[in-house]
Amino acid sequence: MRIIFLGPPGAGKGTQAQFICQDRKIPQISTGDMLRSAITEGTKLGLEAKKIMERGDLVSDDVILGLVRERLRQPDCEPGCLFDGFPRTVGQADGLNEANIAVDVVFELQLSDELIVRRISGRRVHEPSGRIYHIEFNPPKVDSLDDVTWQPLVQRHDDSEAVVRARVEVYREQTAPLIDYYKNSSVKYFEIDGDATVEEIRTSIREGLVSTEA
Ligand code: AP5
Repeated sequence: MRIIFLGPPGAGKGTQAQFICQDRKIPQISTGDMLRSAITEGTKLGLEAKKIMERGDLVSDDVILGLVRERLRQPDCEPGCLFDGFPRTVGQADGLNEANIAVDVVFELQLSDELIVRRISGRRVHEPSGRIYHIEFNPPKVDSLDDVTWQPLVQRHDDSEAVVRARVEVYREQTAPLIDYYKNSSVKYFEIDGDATVEEIRTSIREGLVSTEA
């Protein structure tokens, strides 16, 4: 099964993707994580992506589609995958169709602008594993340290309030058209209240997956 998580920054896509991928034993394909790895490795793509991400803009469709197509050639993607934060433009969704990469189900996580800013400003991440915390909603056991490795948690470079507001604007302009795109297609579509608890959202997504398979 191929699953898409669609939603504005901070809606909880990454948090839920970690649970669902573990459940289903499928890889999480997060284009944001792939770009951050390229930045850490200091590749040419990373250097270009850094400037774009720090403004809250989108990396070009060609670059993203190239990364995703290459990732999908890996054998672990054979049973399916979960796209977290991809596609993000109609051009990227068309690119998937043109490559005959069929999608089974889309979960749209919805969240108000006010909550987005609260979620993002309190987010802390353990970079090596991708584990996600929140200082208020999902704090680590020990302040500022990862629960598993006890290594320090960090704040993402693009998580300042000004950049988050730019990312939200970009989402409304360039990504939100995908809502009608998928609603008007044969792909199963579920709207999820992103303001519910992590557990409630996880249950709704699990139920949606079961009904998609039925
Ligand atoms: P990306 O990394 O994809 O960021 P994003 O889509 O903006 O989403 P986030 O990772 O910020 O949020 P999330 O929905 O995963 O929320 P999370 O689970 O962490 O992209 C970053 C940048 O890369 C883009 O701006 C762009 O420049 C570039 N890029 C990436 N993909 C691209 C593409 N396809 N095309 C072009 N450019 C691309 O949760 C947020 C916080 O809330 C956490 O602290 C968490 O603990 C907490 N939380 C989660 N759920 C709950 C809950 N239910 N209740 C309370 N707190 C919760």
